[in-house]
Amino acid sequence: MLDSNYFHYTAKGLNCDDVMLEELGKTFGTPLYVTSSKSIVDSYRAFEKAFETLPHFTCYSVKANFNLSVIRTLADLGCGCDVNSGGELYRAMQAGVAPEKIIFAGVGKKYEEIAYALECGVLMLKAESLSELRAIDRIAGEVGKIASVALRINPNVTAETHPYITTGDSKEKFGIDEAELPEIFALFDQLPNLLLVGLDMHIGSQIFDPEYYVAATEKLLALFNLSKTKGFEIQFLDIGGGFPVTYDPSKPATPIERFAEKLIPMLVPAGVTVIFEPGRCLVANASVLLTKILYKKRNHVGKEFFVVDAGMTELIRPALYQSHHEVQAVSRHKKTVIADVVGPICESSDFFARQREIDAAEEGELLAVMSCGAYAAVMSSNYNGRLRPAEVMVNGSEVKLVRKRETLEQLVQNELF
Ligand code: LLP
Repeated sequence: MLDSNYFHYTAKGLNCDDVMLEELGKTFGTPLYVTSSKSIVDSYRAFEKAFETLPHFTCYSVKANFNLSVIRTLADLGCGCDVNSGGELYRAMQAGVAPEKIIFAGVGKKYEEIAYALECGVLMLKAESLSELRAIDRIAGEVGKIASVALRINPNVTAETHPYITTGDSKEKFGIDEAELPEIFALFDQLPNLLLVGLDMHIGSQIFDPEYYVAATEKLLALFNLSKTKGFEIQFLDIGGGFPVTYDPSKPATPIERFAEKLIPMLVPAGVTVIFEPGRCLVANASVLLTKILYKKRNHVGKEFFVVDAGMTELIRPALYQSHHEVQAVSRHKKTVIADVVGPICESSDFFARQREIDAAEEGELLAVMSCGAYAAVMSSNYNGRLRPAEVMVNGSEVKLVRKRETLEQLVQNELF
């Protein structure tokens, strides 16, 4: 069970801050994403505290949760944004983030996206290939700007995590091969519309062992030293995101302080501003997905299923990465059962939990799928004609609807006969 300051049981059931989830289900319907804004604020403050002795700038990776209110909650605290597409840039701007606090990533930026980022005046674009550098140079020339760029390095460090979320390994598509760097440095003379301001990496996501960061940062620092000998004045070293969270209480995440105590002494002597791009660790445990038990059934081998009204369309992580999410009954029961918690989608991979001990809740009762603040709503889809759920944000006893539930009309609005 994940019991926190933000999602905790009272005698009346599971609450988000001072609000009963049962009430939210009644008011807004299910499935429903419920986010505690205090949790986001506290996670950001804890992150900032851990790195307070290092000159740095934190850019929330909005891909984790791009809801405008989530972005704004962090922006109001002074946090910047890391965006991965024109769409995410648009969202960050709509949320009120100043362009000079936005950094633009992405292994395959389209020309229109590069032009849009330059027009907005983002802090920097992070380039991932020589061809992309050439494209940014040309587009910057066309729009009459000098583009600030960082080079995303692939440090060839294989962080231990799910293979689908490791990114700093030479097998993967991400970044510029470190061996290519000397050649790229030499080419900057031919790219008159570029200003090299940063070196960047991102080695993966949900990484428990700080040593992977240490190994990759050593490589980044070696390239930083090389850049100095070539006459570049790098202002930013971007370490990326990937810091872990606890999904399964039996596998607690390494506290952020353990990363800070390794990285700060390595990075302070560089005398630059360090950029971090945390996504998950700021938001994952700030939200739950509230879902209703539609039907219970038991088969001839005695296997019990809870069929709920949310599914892989609202949280694809168990299907895609075999991720663990705690599933908790909103109202406590003395008895428990071993059950599979499954959704309504016509795929066998549509489950939240398999053979999990869970309170013996009845049909019509609510379950909370925990840790749904990162990579849940943003990866939702309309598969099976599903309508994306509503999202609410709670702060103490205050509740705000921050995304309306999709309608049937919206499902077909872009289609033409
Ligand atoms: N920066 C870059 C360049 C990234 O690609 C990512 C995540 C981040 C920062 C933020 O990483 P975080 O701090 O959230 O770990 N859908 C997967 C995660 C994919 C992560 C993609 N990149 C999941 O649900 O686990």
